[in-house]
Amino acid sequence: PFAKPVGEIPKGSLRHLRDEAEHCRRCPLWRGATQTVFGRGSSDARAMLIGEQPGDREDLRGEPFVGPAGRLLDKALADAGLARSALYLTNAVKHFKYEQRGPDRLHTRASAREQEACRVWLAAEWLRVRPRLAVALGAMAAQTLFGSGFRLSRERGQWLELEPHCRALATWHPSSVLRTPGTGRQRRYAELVEDLGRLAEALR
Ligand code: URA
Repeated sequence: PFAKPVGEIPKGSLRHLRDEAEHCRRCPLWRGATQTVFGRGSSDARAMLIGEQPGDREDLRGEPFVGPAGRLLDKALADAGLARSALYLTNAVKHFKYEQRGPDRLHTRASAREQEACRVWLAAEWLRVRPRLAVALGAMAAQTLFGSGFRLSRERGQWLELEPHCRALATWHPSSVLRTPGTGRQRRYAELVEDLGRLAEALR
């Protein structure tokens, strides 16, 4: 459904795709990263959750959403009545991008070109899983699905038809909830749970 990826979309089982992605050199991000963080979940999952890019923890563990944002996501999924195991969880970009500052690796945003280079993997996962429902977490994932004109602040929480038999909505990224100060944070969290609740309802 999303912007055409550059190059041919790899085919095969999720395991095969994961192995292929491990050696991906389509952009320079592999150089600094520990490993490719491929999606997790079953090819039978009826819903796909798409994040932005792995962080420090995900890079070390090789799994999406296992750091602070992942903990918040797990809490929001539980509050919305969803099991992580029922979902296919992945990211728009599959390598950690960071700036080294002393001992710390500070997360930096993948460029448009890096996002574009990575899109074949999301497209490959999409073709394999063929989700009926999808949720984009944050603006990067939302724009990957809906195009660069998509505005999260305006269109959050609304189901949009992506292709026949597939609806998707976009919601706050768990990291943006964590970054929001004061009472705004609770509001954003409640909206995230509400939007995930829409997914839970659609899956019933
Ligand atoms: N943020 C993301 O977008 N994805 C992850 O896997 C972790 C943090």
